[in-house]
Amino acid sequence: MRVTIRDFQKMTDEGTPITVLTAYDVTSARLAEAAGVDSILVGDSLGMVIQGYDNPVPVTLDHVIYHAQIVTRVTEKPLVIGDMPFMTYSISPEQALMNCARMMQEGGVGAVKMEGGEILAPTIERIVSAGIPVMGHIGLLPQSVHKLGGLRRMQGKDEVSARQLLQDAVAVENAGAFAMVVEGVPAELGRLITQRVHIPTIGIAAGPDCDGQVQVFHDLLGLFEAFMPKHAKRYVEGAALFKAALTQYAEDVRARRFPTIEHAVHMSPDVLSALFAEDDED
Ligand code: KIV
Repeated sequence: MRVTIRDFQKMTDEGTPITVLTAYDVTSARLAEAAGVDSILVGDSLGMVIQGYDNPVPVTLDHVIYHAQIVTRVTEKPLVIGDMPFMTYSISPEQALMNCARMMQEGGVGAVKMEGGEILAPTIERIVSAGIPVMGHIGLLPQSVHKLGGLRRMQGKDEVSARQLLQDAVAVENAGAFAMVVEGVPAELGRLITQRVHIPTIGIAAGPDCDGQVQVFHDLLGLFEAFMPKHAKRYVEGAALFKAALTQYAEDVRARRFPTIEHAVHMSPDVLSALFAEDDED
């Protein structure tokens, strides 16, 4: 039985932190599930960590659906959330609804996530009223990278923008979202937003007081060397570890240390002697 959005609310009501991790393929999804996370976000961060872009803007609905299909196929327990890519929900509530329906039906996810505050509330309302659970996303919105002038611009540092974010949080909750990601805000604002709304807040670069946390798989495992966000903790130097192992492989092949005879499959002696017999006849 998969974790549901009701479990999210129950955990928050009981004060149990919610753990969310991104995953995109068989390996990351199986590892995330084995680690016991409550939820997997098939994030548009895949644009950076899988596809090699600088930001999530080039990611399409088909891309996220493709990865969501893999993640839902190979996991059983975590709630899988599909991230709605840039411009797939911003044109009108009807456009958003059609694309969210595709994410649910084709991707097999249990919920969708979309970026935006007050301005997105009518869209969230429309989608939730059609029976699709929506996770909001306020604060630093990576899909607005070109408007913000970068992916690492903290939000809500002055009074006016902090007040707007508090308003955004309430609007997203009132529109019917079951939870919201709060990204890239000062820890104090992360706490204030969490106190202001009743639905779970899932923080990333928003301090320790949100109801849960979300992190990018590659950041936690040290696999993405392009940059290391301040908010992430590298639990293992994955890239260095794997590079050393793969270098060893290449050296072993060159030195004929791998494969050895133990790694080989052997022919039955009968087949072998038949082959030799044929050679003798020639
Ligand atoms: O795409 C993503 O991975 C995200 C999270 C970091 C919140 O949106």
